[in-house]
Amino acid sequence: MKRLFSMSAILLILSVSCAQKKSLVKADPHLLEIIDNGLQQAVSQYKYMKSLTDEDRFPKNYEHGRLVTSSARDWTSGFYPGTLCYLYEYSQDKELFHEIENKLTSLESQKDNKRTHDLGFMMYCSFGNAYRLTQNEKYKDILVQSARSLASRYNPKVGSIQSWDRIKSFVSDEYWDFPVIIDNMMNLELLFFASKSTGDARFKDIAVKHAETAMKNHVRPDYSSYHVVAYNPETGAVESRQTYQGFAHNSTWARGQGWGIYGFTMVYRETGDDRFLKTAQGMADFFLNHENLPEDKIPYWDFNAGQPNFPSSWVYDASKYPIIPRDASAGALVASALIELSSYSDKEKANKYLHAAETMIKSLASPAYTSPLKENGGFILMHSVGNLTKEREVDVPLSYADYYYTEAMLRYKNLPK
Ligand code: GLY
Repeated sequence: MKRLFSMSAILLILSVSCAQKKSLVKADPHLLEIIDNGLQQAVSQYKYMKSLTDEDRFPKNYEHGRLVTSSARDWTSGFYPGTLCYLYEYSQDKELFHEIENKLTSLESQKDNKRTHDLGFMMYCSFGNAYRLTQNEKYKDILVQSARSLASRYNPKVGSIQSWDRIKSFVSDEYWDFPVIIDNMMNLELLFFASKSTGDARFKDIAVKHAETAMKNHVRPDYSSYHVVAYNPETGAVESRQTYQGFAHNSTWARGQGWGIYGFTMVYRETGDDRFLKTAQGMADFFLNHENLPEDKIPYWDFNAGQPNFPSSWVYDASKYPIIPRDASAGALVASALIELSSYSDKEKANKYLHAAETMIKSLASPAYTSPLKENGGFILMHSVGNLTKEREVDVPLSYADYYYTEAMLRYKNLPK
């Protein structure tokens, strides 16, 4: 186990299938110290969180003074075991490993769930990391079966995996028969894994086609992004471009933009296709150059919240948000993505992306975002937004913020010294 672990630590950031990794940027020793302290504290926090968590339940957020947990079916269920994998990788603490095994036992049933596109989040963040650390063949089989379930949602007419089953639009009486959300880019990593594991090119072909369709229909000419694209499943035609979790149809929901940056970077890694690199860089540049990105580089939940020219089609009560909430989960996932993206970019862009990631990690590691020990339900970070349009999970900790933050810290630690 130990030997496999250290090999996998090296492979974490070097897991480059097609794209060539360059080492143009080096880690800052001062930030490495901050990260070591952060990871040590995170191990203690997650042990505390474990003590609050019932068997068969998965920590999701912390609201009104209590830890909120979910069943295995929730889209966030993979993040707690996934974060534990990263923290185990760092600490080699057996207590964390036992907790990972327990949660994976509860999560296994989801490998046959064909009702959600979130299987990548649920299964790859958990079993994918556990497989990377242990090479346990059982985990590989579970991942391949999960990929089969995910691929069952692919429609060749549309050239996409369906995100949600038929659902009413957020703002009108219209129904979306075949909605696809930008978040779905993240689930493709599971398909690439399945192709490599089985030799069956179909998984990869679906992932590439989905990414091409998303590049065409979700990404705007200025590299901002639409959250939802609704398609006609019979013809493949685009029926509407809207939002579900963002401020307005034409706004840029920060986490959605983050899913795009991370997702297209990962698809470039898996394909070596420059179109995906260009898209990832364009989306990253839009995020980092935006006049509304605060100095600490942790974004507001939407880049355009409350602005004229961005008509919210839902009832937005600005008086409730005199200070527009930040979304630490978006900051964390973009920090992680930028570290990888910097390794595929020329020197100028590499420095820009890495320095931005450094600022984000420093901000998140500060008391402004990092919780004191044994508070915050055991979550590492505070101040994320789950779904503001539904007034749910506003300014709370979220399991996926911790997951991508921990990943970002480990990716940074693995940069050349
Ligand atoms: N669908 C996942 C999210 O809220 O970002």
